[in-house]
Amino acid sequence: MRCTIAVIGATRGTGLEAARQLIAAGRPVAAVVRSIEKARGLFGDKATLVYGDVTRPETLAQAIDPDWAGIVFTVDITGGIAGRGMFASREKIRAVMYGGLVNTVEACKQRGFKGRLVLLSTIGLTEPSTAMAILNRVKPGLRDHSLDKGEYLKKSGLDWTIVRAGILNDKPGGAHALTITAQDWPLQMRYQIARADLARVMLACVTHPAVGRRELSVFWGEAGHDSDAELAAKLAALAG
Ligand SMILES: NC(=O)c1ccc[n+]([C@@H]2O[C@H](COP(=O)([O-])OP(=O)(O)OC[C@H]3O[C@@H](n4cnc5c(N)ncnc54)[C@H](OP(=O)(O)O)[C@@H]3O)[C@@H](O)[C@H]2O)c1
Repeated sequence: MRCTIAVIGATRGTGLEAARQLIAAGRPVAAVVRSIEKARGLFGDKATLVYGDVTRPETLAQAIDPDWAGIVFTVDITGGIAGRGMFASREKIRAVMYGGLVNTVEACKQRGFKGRLVLLSTIGLTEPSTAMAILNRVKPGLRDHSLDKGEYLKKSGLDWTIVRAGILNDKPGGAHALTITAQDWPLQMRYQIARADLARVMLACVTHPAVGRRELSVFWGEAGHDSDAELAAKLAALAG
């Protein structure tokens, strides 16, 4: 039975949360990373560590295992100001944000991967906002790169889910019910989510029958907590 979930982008942020949640639940996880040493420091022997740099297609051809149940893809450019690629060149950002997804999709096709690829994206790509306009300046082309990676995945022939997240923070998860909708929302501070909560949603999307070939938006709602059954029901409602 296919049960291992791969996380690409596992050494930081949302991907790190996803890998940690899988490990905590005793579920098998493969972390596709560009530094095995860094990943070993994070996961020890609790994850299968696979070398892969999404800007180098030849490494992905080796890395992708067709028997994985799914892939959670949370890669973003790192380094530079604030460690998040701010003010890097448009080309450098595109090579990771868009090119990295393209290379991963092509490697999945080449290797015969049949699971679902759950892609992290952002709200506000189709709903104008001041925050997106500023972000698109400081991280040149972010809007196009994000839209283009989504379109590429949709046309890939793979099974996919695109998760558009609100503004990310590193607060503890589990303190808010989640708003999950099919529509896009403007990028505004009132639409926030903790990376831990986002990781939980992305993992649920790997196997949930209602979210194959769908895009969804997610951010915090009221204080509270969704049980696993409530989260599953919110995902199921997207198909209705
Ligand atoms: N920031 C926000 O408010 C916000 C809001 C909505 C959506 N988003 C979306 O969220 C995503 C970023 O999530 P995040 O902030 O949680 O992630 P993050 O902390 O920036 O982590 C990015 C991960 O990608 C990995 N990575 C970078 N280049 C790579 C490469 N060439 N090959 C393989 N792995 C590579 C990094 O590995 P290393 O450790 O090796 O660098 C790291 O593990 C983006 O898609 C962004 O558009 C962000």
